[in-house]
Amino acid sequence: AKDPVRVLVTGAAGQIGYALVPMIARGVMLGPDQPVILHMLDIPPAAEALNGVKMELVDAAFPLLKGVVATTDAVEACTGVNVAVMVGGFPRKEGMERKDVMAKNVSIYKSQASALEQHAAPNCKVLVVANPANTNALILKEFAPSIPAKNITCLTRLDHNRALGQISERLGVQVSDVKNAIIWGNHSSTQYPDVNHATVKTPAGEKPVRELVADDAWLNGEFISTVQQRGAAIIKARKLSSALSAASSACDHIRDWVLGTPEGTFVSMGVYSDGSYNVPAGLIYSFPVTCKNGEWSIVQGLSIDEFSRKKLDLTAAELSEEKDLAYSCLS
Ligand code: NAI
Repeated sequence: AKDPVRVLVTGAAGQIGYALVPMIARGVMLGPDQPVILHMLDIPPAAEALNGVKMELVDAAFPLLKGVVATTDAVEACTGVNVAVMVGGFPRKEGMERKDVMAKNVSIYKSQASALEQHAAPNCKVLVVANPANTNALILKEFAPSIPAKNITCLTRLDHNRALGQISERLGVQVSDVKNAIIWGNHSSTQYPDVNHATVKTPAGEKPVRELVADDAWLNGEFISTVQQRGAAIIKARKLSSALSAASSACDHIRDWVLGTPEGTFVSMGVYSDGSYNVPAGLIYSFPVTCKNGEWSIVQGLSIDEFSRKKLDLTAAELSEEKDLAYSCLS
């Protein structure tokens, strides 16, 4: 039998946490034959609720779940973890300045970076979900210099999956037959959902989405804004932000990273930019990637037209500005 993998979920008493931990315990993230030990971290005001989640995990009697650590101590939570899913953060409250929210999250991610760097298992893979996801991941990277930059990522897979979902709805095809959409940039409304390389499996072979949809006005307009604004639309409908789809996409992100992407398929991940596609190096930016042997690599050589170029640059500019704001909170 395989040794259990230790998976940390921060903010585990929250909404996404509640949807995510049972998925992990059922093998959705790491596979149906991979035992897991869950490490759940939250803050003291949520300690009782966190304990309630732990009780439910016991009650569910998951065969793959070999242990549960539920704690408000970051060091205990981070010790020995192989995968860290960072969902905990400080949400923007009414009347708060952007800078104040950034300052709170910078301080959380700075201290959790140190706890991970000192106590996580070597080669721990980190996925930041909490917003501002890209910039929280960048702060985590800066304050955990001994964790390789390639091990620190942020979640844009939800946006990627939303793009696949919109194409599938529009064409009336199975979402599993749609692939290779791309989310470029920030997990925010400046992200660029790009379908120029996306395809659909049809009885007549693989066809470009551009050919099947034929309506460029929709693809260049409403499709993009629907994906960009989907988070807000969910909040409006549910009075709560996306949770099951965020949790499911976080599982997709880690599963593909660890177990690999299928041949010919790429997915979107927020990763440390090396300057590919003339995106400034040193930002955590969402790119198309393929994964193999536990490592991602940015898909190279895709053509970028003028329309796309502007959108790649716009979201990069927003991330540079967020980076500056985050750094100004440190001094
Ligand atoms: P939530 O408010 O229900 O849960 C957040 C949890 O984090 C709470 O239990 C809170 O006590 C905890 N927390 C706060 N500070 C913490 C700290 N220092 N250490 C550990 N835990 C801490 O929020 P929800 O809905 O679960 O969302 C979580 C985050 O995910 C938010 O920042 C949200 O904006 C973000 N998000 C990101 C998405 C993405 O695609 N990247 C999609 C949806 C949400």
